[in-house]
Amino acid sequence: MRYVDTDFNNKTIVITGGAGFIGSNLAFYFQENYPDAKVIVFDKFRNEETFSNGNLKSFGHFKNLIGFKGIVISGDITNKEDLERLEEFDIDYIFHEAAISDTTVADQKIMIDTNVNAFKDLCDLAVKKNASMIYASSAATYGNSDVFKVGYEKPNNVYGFSKLMMDNLAKEYYDKIRMVGLRYFNVYGPREFFKNKTASMVLQFGLQLLKGESAKLFEGSDRIKRDFIFVEDVIQANVKACEAKKNGVYNVGTGIARSFQDIVDILKKELNIQREDTYIPNPYVKQYQFFTKADIEETKKHLNYKPRFSLEEGIKAYLPEIIRIYEEEIK
Ligand SMILES: NC(=O)c1ccc[n+]([C@@H]2O[C@H](COP(=O)([O-])OP(=O)(O)OC[C@H]3O[C@@H](n4cnc5c(N)ncnc54)[C@H](O)[C@@H]3O)[C@@H](O)[C@H]2O)c1
Repeated sequence: MRYVDTDFNNKTIVITGGAGFIGSNLAFYFQENYPDAKVIVFDKFRNEETFSNGNLKSFGHFKNLIGFKGIVISGDITNKEDLERLEEFDIDYIFHEAAISDTTVADQKIMIDTNVNAFKDLCDLAVKKNASMIYASSAATYGNSDVFKVGYEKPNNVYGFSKLMMDNLAKEYYDKIRMVGLRYFNVYGPREFFKNKTASMVLQFGLQLLKGESAKLFEGSDRIKRDFIFVEDVIQANVKACEAKKNGVYNVGTGIARSFQDIVDILKKELNIQREDTYIPNPYVKQYQFFTKADIEETKKHLNYKPRFSLEEGIKAYLPEIIRIYEEEIK
């Protein structure tokens, strides 16, 4: 589906973090809709290194790119020599998705090095190439805020802080290139399986149910509400950002808050499963967002963005892939 008039054929598109969840979806979007686009994936890929929380330091996985026909470069955005590999290309667009995407990482130095400092180097590269920069910010910038509008940020973990610092840094470039930050809310959809425990709860609950287990929710999950957004709508926002009427930072959500209990209820209905759920204490209380709901008025106005998937529709569209993952990766 083409969302804009821009013809990306014969354009050079760099996707940092392109072996990850959202980046790989972007790579396939351009490959499928603009077969003559030159798509370059730049990603650190995974190795066996973990953070103190036990999670992998990077989640990029080759299986997210099976069928990809473009160029793959393994590199670390925090390493200037690696970034130099991009110099030889006449870049038109950079979709910057590479980051420490794990909101529970406590190492502040590596978070800022990776999410903020490396972003500056990529912005400078974009200026040098006169490329558009569309980058991933996050709803985590809002943290404990109850207003989900640019200007009302209250991050409650270093991840959310790092994304807010990216948004501040981006302003320095507003008068130089096209620069659009997208604050994704809770994204779910195909190609997130390799994020392991950090994959969306839509996938995690779905797999628990398919395994014959009960869904494990945090206590009070009918009152913990988030704005859950299907990855196809995130792709829509990225593509439309290339024609943004105004540089800036925009929320990418549905504009509706739904509970984690809703997810389980929809999954059970679709899978025709009747089973009691299990409730466990929430270990992240101090740095947890109990409510998010994107204000998408500016996104509609300046990006012409219109979410296409409700939670019910997104889960329905995703379910065949959740079942495939269960059959091929778990069973
Ligand atoms: N998924 C969500 O719900 C969500 C919500 C808000 C914001 N975001 C942001 O969207 C972007 C994409 O997230 P995702 O869900 O696809 O996560 P992801 O972890 O699947 O993707 C990030 C990719 O970046 C790569 N990467 C990590 N460190 C790197 C480094 N130093 N150099 C090069 N590559 C590196 C990883 O290997 C991975 O492939 C991230 O910036 C994330 O912070 C995601």
